[in-house]
Amino acid sequence: MPTDFTATRARFHLPEGLVYLDGNSLGPLPDDAPAALDHTLRSEWGELLIRGWNAAGWMEQSSRLGDRIGRLIGAPAGTVTVGDTLSVKVHQARAAAPELRPERRVVLSDSGNFPSDLYMAQGLLGSLDRGHELRVVEPDEVADAIDDSVAVLMLTEVDYRSGRRHDMAALTAAAHDVGALAVWDLAHSAGAIEVDLAGADADFAMGCTYKYLNGGPGSPGFIYVAEQHIAHVRPALSGWLGHEAPFAFDLDYRPDPGITRMRVGTPPVLAMAALDAALDVFDTVSMADVRARSIELSERFVAGVEATCPDLELASPRDPDRRGSQVSFRHPEGYAVMQALIARDVIGDFRAPDLMRFGFTPLYLDEADIDRAVEILADLMATDAWNQLAYKERKAVT
Ligand SMILES: Cc1ncc(COP(=O)(O)O)c(C=O)c1O
Repeated sequence: MPTDFTATRARFHLPEGLVYLDGNSLGPLPDDAPAALDHTLRSEWGELLIRGWNAAGWMEQSSRLGDRIGRLIGAPAGTVTVGDTLSVKVHQARAAAPELRPERRVVLSDSGNFPSDLYMAQGLLGSLDRGHELRVVEPDEVADAIDDSVAVLMLTEVDYRSGRRHDMAALTAAAHDVGALAVWDLAHSAGAIEVDLAGADADFAMGCTYKYLNGGPGSPGFIYVAEQHIAHVRPALSGWLGHEAPFAFDLDYRPDPGITRMRVGTPPVLAMAALDAALDVFDTVSMADVRARSIELSERFVAGVEATCPDLELASPRDPDRRGSQVSFRHPEGYAVMQALIARDVIGDFRAPDLMRFGFTPLYLDEADIDRAVEILADLMATDAWNQLAYKERKAVT
């Protein structure tokens, strides 16, 4: 049955009159999340207290939600676990992967990667102090830079600024051809586009749940380890909840035999309750339909903006197959234009130095939203209404 996007839209709370084009940063509130959270707060925490770990299944939450997310990213059951922030999950994958290629020293990434991923790699390689080199090339140079010095290729599939999408299957195959491993950050992919980790033979992947998966601000990250690697991965963050028998309280660490070894400490039970409710919406959805509809909506937006706003330049690949689910336009005063747009209830965001980002999330957006966003943006540009001091003052979060 094709996905019913009218039905999915009815399952989100969106303030009246708002056009929300920022689900690529923070998804909206699913209608069922408050009751789910309330239940966890009052009936579980409130009534069960410590018994909740056993009686309410809090202990299994990380792997149960991992399997739910796994279904959306082509990961078999038992290969994904949820918890910690994405940056922590990046660290775990990056610490584990080079150890599987101990004779090599190069970690290859690109300048389209999210800075936190590069910072985490710099921090990690610095503390490893084993002569590893983080080699960062331009996104379109990655394929040519894969050679047999590379231990690990570490990329974000969809560029957070331009929405440019790497070819995961092709680059993973190229990495494997020279004996390297491939690690993918799915922050802008999970819940947005079709991902087939097992089909692409990815070695590790990680992502967040507060963007397209709508888990709420600060909802936890996840990590995937390919089945064949799990037993060989030495968790660098060897916390007690990744231990084979946490309640044996042994003095020595023995990793859990499965993906739970990538769990670190106490999971964020309340945040996971909201995420669980958010994932219910995806039970009614085909990712192929989401992808097709997101392309329709983004193409409509690009055509509308290009027809009405000559001062805005498309900063994303024109071919929708080469993009994720977001589109960016460039303007020297992009920050002010975006602030003016937000003041008129069309929400996107801004990434320095000049990119206005717009996310297309078919679960709760339709053509009328797109047309309204284009109309308001065109009016702002035609009247220069964005050109006011109040819109130029930078806030902490852009
Ligand atoms: C591609 C990518 N990687 C990593 C991060 C960092 O995630 P977190 O703040 O949850 O650690 C982000 C945050 O937006 C991101 O977009």
